[in-house]
Amino acid sequence: MSASGLRIKSPDLLVAESGTDLEGHGLKRTMGLFQLVCFGVGAIVGTGIFVGLSDTVAEAGPAVIVSFVLAAVTCVFTAFSFAELGGAIPVSGSSYSYAYATLGERTAFLVGWCLLLEYGVSVSAVSVGWGQYLNELLDSLVGWQLPTALSAPPGDGGIVNVPAVVVMLLAATLLVRGIRESARATAAMAVLKIGVLILFCAIAFTAFENGNLSPFAAQGVAGVTSGASVAFFSYIGFDAVTTAGEEVKNPRRNVPAAILICIGVVTVLYCLVALAAVGALSADDVADQPAALSLIVDRVTGSALGGGIIAFGAVVAIASVVLAVMYGQTRILMSMSRDGLIPRVFERISPKTSTPVRGTWIVAVVFAVPAAVVPLDVVMNLTTIGTLAVMAVVNVCVLVLRRTRPALPRRFRVPIFPVSPLLGIAFCLYLIYGTGPATWLQFAVFLAVGAVVYALYGRRHSRLGDVAPEAGADVAPKSVGGGG
Ligand code: ALA
Repeated sequence: MSASGLRIKSPDLLVAESGTDLEGHGLKRTMGLFQLVCFGVGAIVGTGIFVGLSDTVAEAGPAVIVSFVLAAVTCVFTAFSFAELGGAIPVSGSSYSYAYATLGERTAFLVGWCLLLEYGVSVSAVSVGWGQYLNELLDSLVGWQLPTALSAPPGDGGIVNVPAVVVMLLAATLLVRGIRESARATAAMAVLKIGVLILFCAIAFTAFENGNLSPFAAQGVAGVTSGASVAFFSYIGFDAVTTAGEEVKNPRRNVPAAILICIGVVTVLYCLVALAAVGALSADDVADQPAALSLIVDRVTGSALGGGIIAFGAVVAIASVVLAVMYGQTRILMSMSRDGLIPRVFERISPKTSTPVRGTWIVAVVFAVPAAVVPLDVVMNLTTIGTLAVMAVVNVCVLVLRRTRPALPRRFRVPIFPVSPLLGIAFCLYLIYGTGPATWLQFAVFLAVGAVVYALYGRRHSRLGDVAPEAGADVAPKSVGGGG
């Protein structure tokens, strides 16, 4: 353990540095609360509910509702922590920056490394889901689908997933043209996708039968637990709100408010969708079905039109997740690059568009590779465990920052401190447990690789060593206390 790995970057320096690259080109503060909430919903509602719901039902049966609630509870405690930190340290780096300000450089690097799962690998996974729904939509519109060879990866019987690559390149094109335009597109998509899910509920509830809810939890607590871990994927993305910290008006108020509004809206929506789904058809009919929401609507209405509308909504919803999650990845990399932990190309902001053009294209091209050739289920579990690990760390950050910087202005404070962040940690660990041993092992290997990359590159290129101690680098506390 070298002392440099424990270097802490003070919140004041993080905020003071934010918004400009080395040449002083800054991001524009264009997003208000409504835009930010739409951006959050855009990052959250997508593959998880449209594609993953049937996988959750396969694990938990009608008790899928309990699984969704458990996943939501995990998110709520962690959302409180994100809200406190997002209000106290309103910069684009999200959990990476919070870890840098509290737990030290090595942990921050590993958090940034895990964010490659939550954002980069996730955007690949979400794009694959988009490709599936595009085919579903083409089928209902023109009765034709792309051949499997060009719409599925080798592990799923294809050669290359062309639609997944195309949606990523389209998202990158929008993002490099500027947040204002992208945020407008995201807002329209967010409103539309909420409308489609409400439409689904309105149709499915007309066929609701109490009998479909029993046996309620055929696979017992184990099924509900693994179901909660699967359901959790559908909530991933609410923290993307914090990655927009530098482009938000009045971030100390709007970032925490947007996070809590987002998590509240999607929790209610998901629980209603899950209840409507298993009430309309039996759990056996829903489990593991592709495009389950379309299937349910088709069955209830007796026509393919309703399913086609849902497929259209899914295509739009998932595209907006691609957009928002890719945006988040570029901003996190920008923060890490600013700190010298990864190459500087990621922090350059184009004076013409005020966006990180080169960084965005690198992200799009690099993560298009797994989108093209890796099956969906392979990357979903890793995305989930990486995100849960990051969220556990964020809860720890709240505990530490209250102790190390009690006077820092906090627009929002977690309720019943320290119970809320401690419960957040406990629920994250519970869902990590639910992902199963194979995923634990893969994640351990991924973390080990990250530690090596930090030792060989990040530690040596860190810019924090260049900063005078009184300006930026604090001394890390030797132990982490939970009180305060
Ligand atoms: N929550 C995001 C989705 O479900 C990752 O697509």
